[in-house]
Amino acid sequence: MSKANNPLNDPARRAAETQLVHGGTMRSQFNETSDALYLTSGYTYPSSEHAEMLFKGEIPGGHNYSRFANPTVDVFQERMALLEGAEAGRAFASGMAAVANAVMSQVKAGDHIVASRALFGGCRYVVEDFMPRWGVTSTLVDGRDVENFARAMQPNTKLVFIETPTNPTLELVDIKAVADIAHAHGAVLIVDNVFATALWQKPLELGADLVTYSATKHIDGQGRVLGGIVLGSKKLIEADVHTLLRQTGATLSAFNAWVLLKGLETFPLRVRQMTDSAAKVTEALASHPKIERVIYPHHPSHPQYDLAKRQMQTGSTLVAFEVKGGQEAAFTLCDSLSVILISNNLGDARSIITHPRTTTHQRLTEDVRLETGVTPGLLRLSIGLEASDDLIADLMYGLEQV
Ligand SMILES: Cc1ncc(COP(=O)(O)O)c(C=O)c1O
Repeated sequence: MSKANNPLNDPARRAAETQLVHGGTMRSQFNETSDALYLTSGYTYPSSEHAEMLFKGEIPGGHNYSRFANPTVDVFQERMALLEGAEAGRAFASGMAAVANAVMSQVKAGDHIVASRALFGGCRYVVEDFMPRWGVTSTLVDGRDVENFARAMQPNTKLVFIETPTNPTLELVDIKAVADIAHAHGAVLIVDNVFATALWQKPLELGADLVTYSATKHIDGQGRVLGGIVLGSKKLIEADVHTLLRQTGATLSAFNAWVLLKGLETFPLRVRQMTDSAAKVTEALASHPKIERVIYPHHPSHPQYDLAKRQMQTGSTLVAFEVKGGQEAAFTLCDSLSVILISNNLGDARSIITHPRTTTHQRLTEDVRLETGVTPGLLRLSIGLEASDDLIADLMYGLEQV
């Protein structure tokens, strides 16, 4: 009997919950139980020759500067890669840093990007406004119909970028079908998987080449720090993404990586609980006479219910709904709530309600907003860890005031 022969030494045999507590652990000489926090910008070398070898990349896993790599950040990257089933990952200072660097790592002047039009505002800005300034053109399509991607592909299309479910209207894009189209044209597919979370949707298994997360959301899950990560094959991550990370310096701080590691330990518990509550809240809202429509991927009323069932293991922690009576009714509801907070983050332990038209999506024109379903009465609800009965009671009280 020896520990060395224990089959569970193989990380591939461990369940996600186990990986998220133990995966990638690197204990120091003190054998600490909790992950160590290496707050250091640099590293010293035992000799000049060692330093030379390190800088030449001849010492695997060696550290020479925390903009390039830091042991606490390494553990976060490794644990996320295990959760995602990815060969490698690189962490960034925020979700937007992760998305912008992932996109920039795959294109150069003269290339073309196809993206779904229903994107988080910052991501839409990157593909629609920012990249064209550097000679990379883009076409945005209604992502609900995969044929739109096929029609938009050009000989110079190098990248397809999608978000599914989308923010805030929880529209879906068929990841596998879009991956096939992208690959048939020699393009790479990037999926922003924030809304589904790594627990309920596996873009890499469906054919995506890179997956991005705003770790600020469910991964921290307690509204403390910003962070982001890009995951994928060793080839794309270690060559393309890592090179850009080093030179743009959009590095995740060791402290934030440490906070995110603490978040990962409870990530499955939290996301499961929040998803269960989201399904209950959806049911309560769906039959309410003051609600025009409720949008939740695993609710039979979702227009892409079949795809949701196929592509996502379960719903998400977010529910969108439209109150009858437009913006005035939506404001009255939000302003009457006691437990649910008016804010714009998501994936937090606290339930959060957002009126996208006047906050996250207010910079878009009314035409673009309506085209993507952001109507005056639309509200986005991020379900937290409070008792679902309290959340439902809070919403029912708010609806009575409308
Ligand atoms: C879908 C999506 N992608 C990317 C981001 C950007 O993440 P961050 O705020 O961490 O930069 C967000 C949220 O803000 C988001 O909701």
